[in-house]
Amino acid sequence: MKPTESKPLSLADLQAMKRNGEKISCLTAYDASFSALIDQAGIDVILVGDSLGMTVQGHASTLPVTLQDMVYHSQCVARARTRSFIIADLPFMSYATPLMAAKNAAQLMRTGTVQMIKMEGANTETLRFLVAQGIPVCGHLGLLPQHINQLGHYTVQGKQADEAQNIINDALALQQSGAQLLVLECVPASLAKTISAQLTIPVIGIGAGIDCDGQILVIYDLLNISPNKPPRFAKNFLAEATSIADAISRYHQAVKQCQFPALAHSF
Ligand code: KIV
Repeated sequence: MKPTESKPLSLADLQAMKRNGEKISCLTAYDASFSALIDQAGIDVILVGDSLGMTVQGHASTLPVTLQDMVYHSQCVARARTRSFIIADLPFMSYATPLMAAKNAAQLMRTGTVQMIKMEGANTETLRFLVAQGIPVCGHLGLLPQHINQLGHYTVQGKQADEAQNIINDALALQQSGAQLLVLECVPASLAKTISAQLTIPVIGIGAGIDCDGQILVIYDLLNISPNKPPRFAKNFLAEATSIADAISRYHQAVKQCQFPALAHSF
């Protein structure tokens, strides 16, 4: 149910925030109730993340999530928002070829009514193909949860100089190929600072330090109700809040005022 009609934020609004030095607040949501609370708190971006495979579906990783799951949860979220910009993840193996990626992204945008899709890694060929079809793309570098079986563990990426340089090169290549937003997950704060300064597109960090252009958390980590142990970069905003709405609002203010993440949440 939409309490008041207002225009959703656009990519141009998010890009203007970067230019003006205003931090971008982002959270994941998977259903209408959380979407409405997040939207009403003034959070700029809602990500319908494939983290729903772990938080909602109880899987050990994001790999079992299907495109149908993503469409369903995107629809639930989209029905309840009025202002927040909505991004949805393309799930594991749904963008293995440029054509598959375009078909699946189109379904998420048409029936899931999301404004942008996110895909992990530095596949610039697929990215350029999507952008040429008019599909806005958010890149995702650093820790790539869909690669967990290659990685072995959910750990910080880019600690060695050569790994850090590869991430910088990939970030520049994604921007060059048309990505309009970038999520950086679990990288040293100094590396995220360098990338945020070099890129003209907004860089949204999760476990990437205070110097990114915006921050994102999984909503269940912010409320400390994830079935799994919360990651070091998450903070329990419910601990000092009077309600879930208040916890989300405290997170929003903390991001806008550069008070989150603290050093304790960074690498
Ligand atoms: O799926 C997800 O929730 C994500 C965030 C962790 C950025 O990709």
